[in-house]
Amino acid sequence: MTPRAPALQTFLSSVHDALAASDLDRAGSDAIGRIYAALETPGSPGSGKAQRLAAVDSSLPDALAAARRHSTAMAGIAYAFQALEPSLYWAPRSASGPHASANWLEGHANAMIVGPGGVESRNDMQIGVSLMAPHVRYPDHTHAPEEVYLVLSPGRFQHGESGWFEPGIGGTLYNEPSIRHAMASDASPLFAIWLLWVERPVRRP
Ligand SMILES: [Fe+2]
Repeated sequence: MTPRAPALQTFLSSVHDALAASDLDRAGSDAIGRIYAALETPGSPGSGKAQRLAAVDSSLPDALAAARRHSTAMAGIAYAFQALEPSLYWAPRSASGPHASANWLEGHANAMIVGPGGVESRNDMQIGVSLMAPHVRYPDHTHAPEEVYLVLSPGRFQHGESGWFEPGIGGTLYNEPSIRHAMASDASPLFAIWLLWVERPVRRP
């Protein structure tokens, strides 16, 4: 087993600390518990292929600056992410969906950090980031794995039958398996970390 690179471990630990101190609900905390228990065993190193997109050049500096200004915990994540960022393969989502804004495709970028195609390759989870330029609406989408978002910027979210809500910097949300969800930026870029537990979750009665 190859040990995990310190920069990645620093990032994962800073995210874990922020989630532990957050207002994440019980289901989300359980998912994070499963993900971080599995992370105790490192996966394999990724391919090393990196790619940057125009949306990253234009929006990442502002997004990271907002996180750094917010709190010591968010600044720690921002710096840890910055150290990893040159190794990431940024790409648009493979498919659009209902209600995406016309500028969505060129106005967003996603990167896998831990998971298929990530800096650490493994199939039991996906940890990555989404970045959106100002005034972009991500398409409605669904996926089977449950998901926790840690939000590092301003920006709105919606899931299931909920209205739009703003978790705020350091805020979280939990998406139960297969729930429909979306996000939207306003005047500032939106930047969020997502953590998906891919192995079938243990359902509580
Ligand atoms: Fe999602």
